Amino acid sequence: MVIIQNGALVCPDGMRYGDVALEGGHIARMAAAVEPTEADEVYDASGCWVFPGFIDAHTHMQCWTGMDWTADSFETGTRAAACGGTTTIVDYATADRGVTMPDGLAEWHRRADGTCTANYAFHMALAEWNERNRADLKVMRDAGVASFKAYLAYDHLKLEDSELLELMEALKPLGATLCVHCENGSIIDAMQKRVVARGITGPEGHPLSRPVEAEADAVSRFLYLAHLAGDARVNVVHLSTKMGLDAIRAAKARGQKNIFVETCPQYLLLDDTCYLERGADGFAGAKYVMSPPPRKPSDRAALREAVLTGEIDTIATDHCSFNLHGQKDRGRGDFRKIPNGGPGVEHRPALIATSFAGELGPTDLCRLMSEMPAKVFGMWPQKGQLAEGADADVCVWDPTAEWTINAATQHQNVDHTTYEGFECCGRAHLTFVNGVLAAQDGEPTGAQPGQYVAR
Ligand code: URP
Ligand code: ZN
Ligand code: ZN
Repeated sequence: MVIIQNGALVCPDGMRYGDVALEGGHIARMAAAVEPTEADEVYDASGCWVFPGFIDAHTHMQCWTGMDWTADSFETGTRAAACGGTTTIVDYATADRGVTMPDGLAEWHRRADGTCTANYAFHMALAEWNERNRADLKVMRDAGVASFKAYLAYDHLKLEDSELLELMEALKPLGATLCVHCENGSIIDAMQKRVVARGITGPEGHPLSRPVEAEADAVSRFLYLAHLAGDARVNVVHLSTKMGLDAIRAAKARGQKNIFVETCPQYLLLDDTCYLERGADGFAGAKYVMSPPPRKPSDRAALREAVLTGEIDTIATDHCSFNLHGQKDRGRGDFRKIPNGGPGVEHRPALIATSFAGELGPTDLCRLMSEMPAKVFGMWPQKGQLAEGADADVCVWDPTAEWTINAATQHQNVDHTTYEGFECCGRAHLTFVNGVLAAQDGEPTGAQPGQYVAR
């Protein structure tokens, strides 16, 4: 048995001191004291908070995004995740046009199986809506896929409104959740042309071409469609604007149910001045080319407030890493060619714990980054809580550890971080995945205990 002693346990009903024993991939016992035998592996958690492992419900590992392959594989991405205290990711498998969902899922399994340090589940993104996909929704559900994704932007991925409506209606009897990338793609296409016509071709053109209205319109339209589909169960992913938040508030005020909301550290910590960063070669702003882009300080303030009021259900990363040199810099001279996305899976718990210090306590961090992701995405009660019988995914968090994020020492397989020099207070001291020590003080142990999570 693994015994974690003397920690402050972050439990669903509050915090208490005690020991946690892990055995056979599960939490075997939780008590004020669990007496170890000589055969047991014992870890001291004095001064630490003991969380159920963190869950990052929005990642893109080892994925072709239409412009390039992401820099992180499942192997490197889940290793980095575990170093930061994340024990499960939910990655976006994608069925591109002409590919069936079962084939898409099989491909994602080929990429991930046998290589992962953290556990992994899959959402399934659909790039088209047809009778084959309709029939395969149930096949996917039986294969453990409880959530799907549709895009309102990106020409090679986006669905029409009528298709979105039918998709939500078809998902309803399955109890599945539809995640939607809410940006109005045709507005963005038009704005990109205008921005380039003004001679703005550097990374600073990216936020100019993706106005807040493009998100607000898409959120609002999507939620009306969800209402039309009988209050379909939906998740607005990577919310970045106050206007989008207001559209969600309006839908809830109308009485609409089953709306979940995700945001990401980049919308809670950064703002659009990041695009003016030049660096040694004048192109450092490309690091922040992700969609949606970080917005104005007022948007950031509104989202931070929404985290505190409980209007945001989950904080995920949208980890989608590309190297600045050799990948993003292919868009030098035309920001439209910069692969969209940034890294984050390793740093989310420390970024959120640090930047919300004094505002969010351990139970809030647990709710936003473990409990609610598990509940929204069909992994509760096995994941997302410290309880006897639950999975042995545990993060022992040292709230006093001080360290600095930098690319040179990170485990994300990418040549930069969007949080270079950020001074963190708090770090994953021990990360257990399925009862196996996967990382210690930010370094991987080399174990690869991650397994597929059928939901
Ligand atoms: O820029 C981003 N976020 N790329 C990943 C794909 C997406 O839209 O979530
Ligand atoms: Zn998206
Ligand atoms: Zn994404």
